[in-house]
Parts: sequence; C-alpha cells; structure tokens
Amino acid sequence: MNTIMYIKGSPRTERSHSRQIARAFISALQSKDPELRVDERDIFTMNLPSFDGLTIKGKYNIMHGREYTPAELEAWSAVEAIIEDFKSVDAYVFAVPMWNLGLPYRLKHYIDIVTQPTYTFGINENGYFGMLGDKKAFVAYSSGGVFPDEGNPLETWNFQSSYLRTWFSFVGITKVQEVFSRGMLMDGGPQAKEQAIALAERIAVDF
Ligand SMILES: Cc1cc2nc3c(=O)[nH]c(=O)nc-3n(C[C@H](O)[C@H](O)[C@H](O)COP(=O)(O)O)c2cc1C
Repeated sequence: MNTIMYIKGSPRTERSHSRQIARAFISALQSKDPELRVDERDIFTMNLPSFDGLTIKGKYNIMHGREYTPAELEAWSAVEAIIEDFKSVDAYVFAVPMWNLGLPYRLKHYIDIVTQPTYTFGINENGYFGMLGDKKAFVAYSSGGVFPDEGNPLETWNFQSSYLRTWFSFVGITKVQEVFSRGMLMDGGPQAKEQAIALAERIAVDF
C-alpha cells in the first residue's frame, strides 16, 4: 500500500470526533510506514461540481455516443476528474459523522459524483459489480446519539453505516474496517471516543 485517500466527511476541524479517530488511525499507519502518501480530501472545502441537469445530459450523450455541447463536455469532464482522483489510491480512510440519521450532504454529493457506471461500477448478466478492485477502507463513524447496528429497533434509524456499507460493496471496496464513536453528545461520549481511538490504532497495525 503506497497511497491512501483521507476523505473528511465532517466540516468540524479539530473538534470533529470522527476526524480525531481517523487522524489517530492515519498517524498509526504512518508510524508503521513513514513513506505512506496520504491524499487529504476535505469535501466541505474542495470544489465539488454540481450534479445537475446539464451534467446528466452530458453524461448520457457522451456515454451513448450522441452529440454533446461544449458545456456538457466541460460539466462531465469535471466529474471524470474527481472520479479519476478517487480511483488513483490504494486504500481509503473516511471520517463520517451522522447527520439527520444519514450522511452529511457533502459526502453524499461526493458519492453521487464518483458513483458512475463503467467508471466505478458495472452491470453484466449477473447484475451489478464493483470496479474498485477490492480496495480497503477504514471508516471512523460518529454520532451524537446511540444507534445500535443489530438487534435493536433503533437499528432501522441508522442510514449512516448501513448506507455506506452497501455503497462500499456496490463500488467494490470490499475490505472495510469500522470504528464507531456513538453517543458523542451523551454522558459517556469522551470515554467512547477514547475507546474508538484505541481500537483504530489497533486496527492500523494490520491494515
Ligand atoms: C446537522 C447535524 C445533524 C445531526 N444529526 C444527528 C442525528 O441524526 N443523530 C445523531 O445521533 N447525531 C446527530 N448529530 C450529531 C453528530 O452526529 C455528532 O455531533 C457527531 O459527533 C458529529 O461528528 P463530528 O464530531 O465528526 O463532526 C447531528 C449533527 C449535526 C451538525
């Protein structure tokens, strides 16, 4: 593994719990491998092109070999550049807060840009297949409340890890390790975060 991409899904810089955990994971990786390149992508400050009607028209015209306008080409090329950047690394680290039971809108925006047929997923006679080549990811999740993953009615309220897990497998990121810091706005928040950081550092050893 030579390069990882660190996708910062929280706009909260040093106060972000998910980012503190992701940072601890990356520091542990770097102490193991000082040569490791880390490409940081702050999705709240990077330029994410609108995925609007013009872009979609350009996508279909270009993909289906139809005529397209210079504006459509420009819009689709901006999407292609972000996909190329996303695919250029060996593995991913995501910092992912829960916002309104799901993902922050800018992270969904990023996902909507990079998730494209023939680029990151395909379809054949057996159905959909991911094109990321079984890449690895580490995900640091955080939430203000507690959303158990299994065996609890609140499980169905979790559109954060449930969505991302499905998306990872959709695009072919198949080796995913996760750490959760739940209850960040509750009494046990600081301890839960310390445990999450310690777990992240342990996962980094064999990542
Ligand atoms: C816009 C917004 C929406 C939120 N929605 C939820 C939510 O639905 N459930 C929850 O448990 N916490 C929610 N929270 C709290 C965050 O998940 C929590 O503060 C978390 O630590 C944020 O991650 P960060 O510290 O990495 O920024 C929300 C916070 C914000 C700013």
